[in-house]
Amino acid sequence: MKPTLEQTLGALATQHSDWRPVMEALGLDFCCGGRQTLDQAAQARGLDPATTAAVLEALPEMKPGKAPDPASLTTPELIDHIVSVHHAFVRDELPRLLSLAQKVQAKHGDHDAAASGIYPALKSVASVLLRHLDDEEVILFPRIRNASQDNERLSTEVVAAFIHDHEEAGDGFHRLRELTGGFQAPEGACTKYRLLVEGLHHFEADLHEHVHLENNVLFSRLGDRP
Ligand SMILES: [Fe+2]
Ligand SMILES: [Fe+2]
Repeated sequence: MKPTLEQTLGALATQHSDWRPVMEALGLDFCCGGRQTLDQAAQARGLDPATTAAVLEALPEMKPGKAPDPASLTTPELIDHIVSVHHAFVRDELPRLLSLAQKVQAKHGDHDAAASGIYPALKSVASVLLRHLDDEEVILFPRIRNASQDNERLSTEVVAAFIHDHEEAGDGFHRLRELTGGFQAPEGACTKYRLLVEGLHHFEADLHEHVHLENNVLFSRLGDRP
């Protein structure tokens, strides 16, 4: 289906889950930047909007038999999916990446700006994210579950602080991307350095999917979000 230039990135990423890897590769930020139109986002990236729309339109349709898109789940199922897949991943992966980052900083930090900067940048993202996951699980998600059960509409005010946290974590990963030159380990880097940079790249992709499911799917079901 041909996307229109007025559609938002969030809506496109929700309707066409198989376009997300290509949107990601083109730098079209569909999670924290999900409210931008395709036209605005393409122009901001220096891309021709009409060509970008044509590239997306030309992508093959999702093949039958592929796992269902989490966006098609009910609200309680979607919350279970977010917690069991994405929150579990963040809690497992952050300690491993922080430990690698600390070792890389100790070994290479005196002669490599990225090696010295990754650990403090990741530590500050981690402190936002870990507190954020607890707040979602203890405060926000039970409230959304109850509202969904009672068919109650929740104000978007309820999620404003959570969207702000997403932006803060997204900004942190922008910094990590810049520091590592797009998640590239330096030539001849040791195994730990390579594992760290690969792990950060994978973590960013998971964070984008996680934030997309919350900002563009779960939170958009609350009732009065434009
Ligand atoms: Fe979350
Ligand atoms: Fe979140």
